[in-house]
Amino acid sequence: MDNFLMLNNGMQMPLLGLGLYRAVGSDEATTAVTNAVSMGYRLFDTASSYRNEEEVGTGIRSCGLAREEVFVTTKLWNTAQRLGNIEGAFSRSLERLGLSYVDLYLVHWPIPGLILDTWKVMEEIYLSGRARAIGVCNFDEAELSELLEHAGIVPAVNQIEYHPLYQRPELLSFCQANGIAVQASCPLARGAYLNREPLVKLAEKYHRSPAQIGLRWLVQKGISVIPKSTSLDRQLENSQIFDFTLLAEEMAIIDGLSEHFSVLNPPEDLLV
Ligand SMILES: NC(=O)c1ccc[n+]([C@@H]2O[C@H](COP(=O)([O-])OP(=O)(O)OC[C@H]3O[C@@H](n4cnc5c(N)ncnc54)[C@H](OP(=O)(O)O)[C@@H]3O)[C@@H](O)[C@H]2O)c1
Repeated sequence: MDNFLMLNNGMQMPLLGLGLYRAVGSDEATTAVTNAVSMGYRLFDTASSYRNEEEVGTGIRSCGLAREEVFVTTKLWNTAQRLGNIEGAFSRSLERLGLSYVDLYLVHWPIPGLILDTWKVMEEIYLSGRARAIGVCNFDEAELSELLEHAGIVPAVNQIEYHPLYQRPELLSFCQANGIAVQASCPLARGAYLNREPLVKLAEKYHRSPAQIGLRWLVQKGISVIPKSTSLDRQLENSQIFDFTLLAEEMAIIDGLSEHFSVLNPPEDLLV
C-alpha cells in the first residue's frame, strides 16, 4: 500500500500526518514536530486558530529535513473570511511559520454566503505559488457543489471529521468522484471509540492497539489521517499502521459501528 495520496494537481500528500490542535507552546508544538519527524511523520497540520504556527514553524525549520521533504498544512480562520482579509491572514500565517510557502492551505469552515468569494482569493493564493495546493474543511455535499459549480480550481482536499463512530460514506464517495482527497480530522474521535469491543478484539488479533486499528481502517479506505498526540509513545503507536492489513469482513465490522457520534463542535460564529 502506498503511503501517499495523489492530489488532483499531481502532488503527493502523506496518508499519515500529525495533528497539532491543542499542542501548546514550544514545549508541545515544537517538540511534537521534531519528535514526529524522527518517527517518520512528514505531514504537519496546524491552523491560524490553533495559535501555534510559530512553534510549529520552528519545529519544521529545525527538524533537519529539507523544506521539500515536509508537507505543511495551515488554515484560514472565519474572521478573516468575514473581514475579506484573506490575503493578509495568509501572509501572517506564512510569517508566523517562517516559511515562504505551505503545501496545503485550507478554508477552515464554510461560511454561508462567503464560499465563492473566499475561494476566489484562495485560487489567487494558489496561482501565486505560495500554497502548493488549496482545499477546504468541514464542507458537505451541498457546499462542495456550490463551490464546484463556479470554481476554476477544484479543492485538492476536504478535511472532515471521520472515524468509526462518525462515518460519512456518501460524502467520501462524492469527494472521491470529484477528485477531492479526504483527510480525517479527529481520526481517534479524541479517544471515544478506543474501548469499543470490535476494535479491542481486532487489536488483540493483530497485536495492535484499538487506535492503530481505527487509523488503519481509515487509511485502508484511502482517507488520510492526522491523529494528534504530544506523547512520544502515542505518536509512535499512531505511526505504525502500514505493516498490517484488515480483512474485508473486518473492515465491514468497523463500518457497522457508525452512530453519527461527532466530537467536533462548529465554532460559535456558525451557530446562529
Ligand atoms: N479542520 C478542522 O476543523 C479540524 C477539527 C478538528 C481537528 N482537526 C485536526 O485534526 C487533528 C486531530 O484531531 P483531534 O486532535 O481533535 O483529535 P484526535 O486526533 O482524534 O485525538 C487526539 C486525542 O487523543 C489522544 N491520543 C492520541 N493518540 C492516542 C492513542 N494512540 N491512544 C489513546 N489516545 C490517544 C491525544 O492525547 P495525547 O496528545 O496526550 O496523546 C488527544 O487527547 C487535530 O489536531 C487538527 O490538526 C481539524
